[in-house]
Amino acid sequence: MTSIAQFNAQAIEATDLEHSEQLGLLQALGDAVECGADSTQVARQLDALIAYSEAHFVSEELLMRMKSYDDYEDHQDDHAHMLAQMRAMAVDHANGNSALIPGKVKDVLDFIGRHIATRDKRLADYVRTNR
Ligand SMILES: [Fe+2]
Repeated sequence: MTSIAQFNAQAIEATDLEHSEQLGLLQALGDAVECGADSTQVARQLDALIAYSEAHFVSEELLMRMKSYDDYEDHQDDHAHMLAQMRAMAVDHANGNSALIPGKVKDVLDFIGRHIATRDKRLADYVRTNR
């Protein structure tokens, strides 16, 4: 395997691992709210989810820039949309409306699921074939 092909394969593998970590954090947040976890714990999980998502999206966006990816803007728009949804959950929680979070977690899970199956898959295919 050439070093560039190796880099591409590792980048795709790292991205897949980040997706699974991100989905786990999101699910854990929904579970915590539904189980009545205390406010500090929910806030901590929200912070972790948002911080992880920001880092993951920056990582993917850097990869897209390095590869001169042709769907960069639309892909980045999806990331901005997901971050806005997560930050809205943090606002709901700060305002004492944590009960709204499970429904929003479901919306974000649905959106991320579609994003991974479409835009992230397209990016992975592009990285695999564009050295
Ligand atoms: Fe993405």
